[in-house]
Amino acid sequence: MAENRRGVCSSDKKIRILVAEGDLSFLRMIEDSLMASGGLYHIEQVSSGEQCLKMLQKERFDILLLDHSLSDGEGLNWLRRFNELGIGIPTIFVTAKGDPRLAIEAMKEGVFDYINRSAECAKAFPFVANRVIEGYSLMLEKVRLQKELIETKNFLESIVEKAGDAISVVDLEGNVLYWNEGAEKIYGYKKEEVVGGRLSQFLCSRDEKLRVEEEKLINQLMQRVKEGDVIPNVEVKRKTKEGKETITSMTISPLKNAAGDIIGASRICKDITNLKKAEERLILAERLSSLGELTAGVAHELRNPLAGIKINTQILSRKNGLPEIEKKILSSTLDGIEKIQKIVDDMLHFARPKASHFKEEEINDVVDKSLAFLQTKLKKANISSIFEGAQRLPKLRIDIHEIQQVLINLMLNALQAMEEGGTLIVRTFLKDGDGVGIDVRDTGIGIPGTHLKKIFDHFFTTKSEGTGLGLSISLKILENHGATIGVVSEEGKGSTFTIHFSTSNRS
Ligand SMILES: Nc1ncnc2c1ncn2[C@@H]1O[C@H](COP(=O)(O)OP(=O)(O)O)[C@@H](O)[C@H]1O
Ligand SMILES: [Mg+2]
Repeated sequence: MAENRRGVCSSDKKIRILVAEGDLSFLRMIEDSLMASGGLYHIEQVSSGEQCLKMLQKERFDILLLDHSLSDGEGLNWLRRFNELGIGIPTIFVTAKGDPRLAIEAMKEGVFDYINRSAECAKAFPFVANRVIEGYSLMLEKVRLQKELIETKNFLESIVEKAGDAISVVDLEGNVLYWNEGAEKIYGYKKEEVVGGRLSQFLCSRDEKLRVEEEKLINQLMQRVKEGDVIPNVEVKRKTKEGKETITSMTISPLKNAAGDIIGASRICKDITNLKKAEERLILAERLSSLGELTAGVAHELRNPLAGIKINTQILSRKNGLPEIEKKILSSTLDGIEKIQKIVDDMLHFARPKASHFKEEEINDVVDKSLAFLQTKLKKANISSIFEGAQRLPKLRIDIHEIQQVLINLMLNALQAMEEGGTLIVRTFLKDGDGVGIDVRDTGIGIPGTHLKKIFDHFFTTKSEGTGLGLSISLKILENHGATIGVVSEEGKGSTFTIHFSTSNRS
């Protein structure tokens, strides 16, 4: 449209002027002065607002000369009407001599210029008209550019704002100027809390020593940014609002103003905490697997000499006429050997699990056998045991030795948690219609909340003689059976471990 108008001005076409003006002598003066200016003009004249509207709707005009006193109402009111109807045309308003208030009001309505109904003004009209056309096309161009600018700004803002990564902008002193939604999500701080403050005040560690180190690193990076460097993928540790540690991969780039001066830095941070954890787990798993190999080798080598030592000790202890003190020594030696054997067996199983043999079994029988195995120990520890076996449970397809090992591990843990005596309650039940559940409950010391997450980890133990393998082996066996295990515990009251076999374990 702007191009079009400029084309008109370059005189290859006539400039079309609509004159809404009742004063014919003034109209003549306008026509004369246009003629005298030598330009190419086409003039249409109307004397009422209604006719003016019709013409504007029907034909294209480059300019409107609008008289204030039209035959059917005030020009200003008609102008408002045209605006409401979305008719955009550069307008020159004609007022009677010496009426500046009206002129101001007309300017407010968007007229481009105004002239008095006088001979001088009529003479200057060609000049005013060209200025108005030029101004109007410049205005249209400006509006178009502004719209484009706003659209681009909104587009970029929504990309930056909604990016999953944390994006922030700081000035050269480290004060936050911008903070996107990703940053709110990753660090937990809202825009309102952070903008205007110093980033280090929020994200640095609360530990003084670490804080100094982190600030030093950031300052070094900022120094490089001030020199114009872009620094990609720096790994930085940050504290979230909740105090959690996050690891981010940060790219810092200099932020420049229109003159090209560096006025701050933008930081894009990707949360790589989970990635890092997975990496660490992988390294640990690799280490564990080589440790497992080593353990299996050592355990295997220990087995035979240990069996020999056990037999020899047994032979010695059966000798008649041994003094009481020696009998006691040999008996405690045997106890020790058995403990070592158990640990060696656990380690061997953990490192090199045997192949499972699945068969259909009555779970109540398996629980019964496991309990029977521990009767002497339970009695010795002054623990009463209760077994509540549900009737008509579906048979389960399991490796009986492995499940027995799991139950014995759980019962032993229960027993060890009740040093002062107590009750061991084992219960089997139907779960969710077709699954089978087993509860192993004790009235022992319970498990602190901080330990709950770790008890299934390899080598986690709170016992001076524990291996920390019982639960991790049990978990592995149950996973192999497609079963799950959970625990509910209250310190000082006791714990309940619940195993759940789902339908797939059924025959
Ligand atoms: N019934 C329980 N009551 C209290 N603590 C338990 C119980 N079962 C397991 N735990 C905790 O879990 C840890 C790991 O158990 P486990 O893997 O069997 O290894 P270990 O018995 O050799 O310590 C134990 O050291 C103990 O802290
Ligand atoms: Mg144990």
